[in-house]
Amino acid sequence: MKKIRIGIIGGTGGIGRWFDRFFQKEGFEVQVSGRSSGPDFQTLARQCPVVVVSVPIKVTCQLIEQVGPFMPKESLLMDLTSLKEEPVKAMLNASRSEIIGLHPLFGPKIKSMAGHNIVLCPARTQKWLPWIKNIFLKNRARLIETTPRHHDELMALVQGLNHLNTITLGLTLGRSGFDLEELKEVATPNLKTKLDILKDIFGPNSRLYAEIITQNPYLPKVVKEYGESLSEMKKWIDRKDSETLQKRIEGTNLFSQ
Ligand SMILES: NC(=O)c1ccc[n+]([C@@H]2O[C@H](COP(=O)([O-])OP(=O)(O)OC[C@H]3O[C@@H](n4cnc5c(N)ncnc54)[C@H](OP(=O)(O)O)[C@@H]3O)[C@@H](O)[C@H]2O)c1
Repeated sequence: MKKIRIGIIGGTGGIGRWFDRFFQKEGFEVQVSGRSSGPDFQTLARQCPVVVVSVPIKVTCQLIEQVGPFMPKESLLMDLTSLKEEPVKAMLNASRSEIIGLHPLFGPKIKSMAGHNIVLCPARTQKWLPWIKNIFLKNRARLIETTPRHHDELMALVQGLNHLNTITLGLTLGRSGFDLEELKEVATPNLKTKLDILKDIFGPNSRLYAEIITQNPYLPKVVKEYGESLSEMKKWIDRKDSETLQKRIEGTNLFSQ
């Protein structure tokens, strides 16, 4: 099994490049392609028994539609997309091959996957599922198997709400009129951590975060609830009513459910 050739479409980008290095370290032969480098996508699909799609969320399904028909029945098509419902559906429709949706819950800055979570959505698979699980388990990743729908529902909170909250912080800091350098001078450890995250979001990875937030079908409900929480808070802040806010915080029993 060791000499299996793995093709990564989008292997010139952030997480694709990370998996290129990872699979090479595992002893596999890896071929990568981007829009203007490497073999064209169809050639890659024909030459590699395992193909991983790792392109921006908004172009993932249309790319799968182009590549899927070239994957033989006994091959494996996977994706690394941060959302799973639409890409997995697209892979099942476009290809006869085995299909496994993956979502590594980490970014390309980490050194190893040890201790980090990877979601697997096995959609049509027999021989390849134990193969990929063994590779990840050997590298001490934490694996979670679930359906694409449940994944996206969870990600509406894990990533959608979380990033929405951080972006709202950044937009509000931007609106405040204060110089960020002056804020940094008086930052708490907590704000320093958040500013580091903001640097990534308001820097090179803005597209990824914007797509994670806008493309998850389960996020509008969460945003509605977020707006309700904000309105509640505003009411208590306007009234300087710390007692009611404190009771509301305690009454949620967030950590004793
Ligand atoms: N970055 C993360 O932390 C992370 C973590 C987990 C999952 N993901 C998922 O992984 C996927 C890739 O994310 P990323 O952050 O690695 O993105 P990225 O750094 O922007 O890389 C995107 C890759 O896709 C290629 N690409 C861009 N536009 C394309 C198009 N229209 N058609 C075909 N290929 C195109 C790029 O190739 P060229 O620029 O060379 O043409 C590049 O190789 C996304 O679905 C994301 O949700 C990302």
